[in-house]
Amino acid sequence: MEGAISSVPNTRIAVVTGGNKGIGFEVCWQLASGGITVVLTARDETRGAEAVEKLIALGVTNVVFHQLDVTDTSSIATLVDFLKTRFGKLDILVNNAAIGGVEYLQELDTSEETFAGMDFDQMLEWMVKNVRERIDSAKKGVQTNYYGTKHVTEAVLPLLQSSSEGRIVNVSSIFGLLRLISNEKVRRELSDIDNMTEERLDELLNRFLRDFEADALEACGWPMGCSAYKVAKAAMNAYSRMLARRHPALRVNCAHPGYVKTDITMNSGVLTPEEGARNVVKVALLPDGGPTGKYFAEGEEASLCEVPAGWRRVHGPVRRPSADELACLPCHVV
Ligand SMILES: NC(=O)c1ccc[n+]([C@@H]2O[C@H](COP(=O)([O-])OP(=O)(O)OC[C@H]3O[C@@H](n4cnc5c(N)ncnc54)[C@H](OP(=O)(O)O)[C@@H]3O)[C@@H](O)[C@H]2O)c1
Repeated sequence: MEGAISSVPNTRIAVVTGGNKGIGFEVCWQLASGGITVVLTARDETRGAEAVEKLIALGVTNVVFHQLDVTDTSSIATLVDFLKTRFGKLDILVNNAAIGGVEYLQELDTSEETFAGMDFDQMLEWMVKNVRERIDSAKKGVQTNYYGTKHVTEAVLPLLQSSSEGRIVNVSSIFGLLRLISNEKVRRELSDIDNMTEERLDELLNRFLRDFEADALEACGWPMGCSAYKVAKAAMNAYSRMLARRHPALRVNCAHPGYVKTDITMNSGVLTPEEGARNVVKVALLPDGGPTGKYFAEGEEASLCEVPAGWRRVHGPVRRPSADELACLPCHVV
């Protein structure tokens, strides 16, 4: 392709979204250390450029920065132009960028001492208690975590198809597990990939936001506590599986990194960003011809339907809305 670098024909090229900090930064470091040319992207030019400088100071040279706000279509188009001109293909896309979709309480002590003596569930409980959910942040969560991932993916698909085996890793979460959605109809639809469509996913997300505005989340069987994050990740998991089916030559998988101490978790968590990134990179570097359309939790293939033990305390019982609730509330997913 015109403008492609010809001196490195055998180098694999990876794009990582949200690469300036947290797990994304560590993914860039680990991929680059393994000899892959990494395009570290970040929505903020300064933060992104500083992250690349940090990586270069750590000893890798095969990292370049490009601006990317996953919610901005012109920013996505500019990145695609850059990739076409500079490399002419893309081998690995790591859709890592995300937000919590919540408002974080100000002036919280998020130092190590706060979490000393807390177990996994207590930390999760602390995190969910210390955020507030508002419709604006929920909308941003859905826009960034589902539509951002989808739009970046669609834009780079032709470049991934120019690779001998393009790979997409969508950084997912145990918060996207289907069992956290108590509305059985929604859960069934999200797991029935044969009959799912992108239009139906749009409808479900719109309904979720309408039910959010009507204060009807619990009654309509949507997940509670970081609800927009959970619903957007569940939609992203479904989209990934659809994509894997549509493009059998690609490897499209979701990876839950583990519960990691980063800004999104307010520094709670049990893993370091480096450990979390290892779980993502493992999926990105699965051998050729490996699994596609799968969900990996902490590096191992897992089921989207399991809820780890102890979770009921944090997320509440998985309950079905009653027939009366379904009849009188504005939850149309029946
Ligand atoms: N930490 C965990 O326990 C955990 C568990 C499960 C899944 N995950 C997933 O792991 C991934 C990385 O999260 P993290 O824990 O590393 O959180 P983080 O430290 O908060 O990093 C999030 C990254 O996403 C970027 N981002 C947010 N909105 C963006 C946008 N519109 N365009 C481009 N970049 C954007 C952020 O950029 P700014 O610096 O500009 O904000 C930042 O670089 C996410 O997909 C998250 O859902 C994390």
